[in-house]
Amino acid sequence: MVKETQYFSSPEFDLGGVVPWGRRLREYQAFFALGDLAGIGPVLDAGGGPSSFAAEAVSAGLRVIAADPIYSFPGEAIAARFEETAAAMREGMARAAYRFNWHYYGSEAAVHRLRREALALFLADFEAGKAAGRYVPAALPDLPFADGAFRLALSSHLLFLYGDTLDFDFHVEAMRELLRVADEVRVFPLFNLDGRPSSHLPGVVEALRGDGVRCALREVPFEFQKGARRMLVARRGDARGPSFGPGSCDNRRGGRNV
Ligand SMILES: C[S@@+](CC[C@H](N)C(=O)[O-])C[C@H]1O[C@@H](n2cnc3c(N)ncnc32)[C@H](O)[C@@H]1O
Repeated sequence: MVKETQYFSSPEFDLGGVVPWGRRLREYQAFFALGDLAGIGPVLDAGGGPSSFAAEAVSAGLRVIAADPIYSFPGEAIAARFEETAAAMREGMARAAYRFNWHYYGSEAAVHRLRREALALFLADFEAGKAAGRYVPAALPDLPFADGAFRLALSSHLLFLYGDTLDFDFHVEAMRELLRVADEVRVFPLFNLDGRPSSHLPGVVEALRGDGVRCALREVPFEFQKGARRMLVARRGDARGPSFGPGSCDNRRGGRNV
């Protein structure tokens, strides 16, 4: 589990800990090439934080569970942590503006607005959603779910991004755990906070392939960190049923094998 005392930083981003910044459903659709979401549940959002993905997806009729250690805290504490880190995040993004492709968001202010929208939607759903089992306090690499409980597990802005703090073994263990509970795992981005490709990626893929997992890098219709245009799609060799949409591991268009 990532402890409060761990510091995630890069020359431009001095974040002082895990940043509870969340993204919206339409951003997840782009990160993971999810298309119109038809038939993709049940889905696990691992490290979902204050993203509104689960809240928005459930409203759209999908079965989604989000897991994150911060869900053991009340909503007010999560909101307070967001406020504590917002200034450092905004300053870091402004300092590192040259490292981003602004085509999708337009401006740092627009990114900030989206993060606040996501937080508000998440908070509005959190207490009732937690009571309904939609928000589960849990930390990789140990998840409290049965084998094969999900068709798809997503990891957005945790694995690889914080690869300077979360070591190689953590990544392999986390991916194995995600593949235990889900047929298919998608991870985005594959760059670290410095805006460079994660050095863990080739070794993680090699370890998973050794387990019989099919791995591919697929292009996605999104780029914010310059050059970070691909997700990792990992699919258990014994997975039943079809993969999903244009990012499918079984669909060789739009990407290449690792
Ligand atoms: C930058 S946020 C991303 C939130 C969301 N996935 C998104 O993209 O909007 C990273 C999240 O990972 C969570 N996290 C940190 N360590 C974790 C672990 N070991 N297992 C699961 N989640 C973890 C943090 O609490 C935080 O909410």
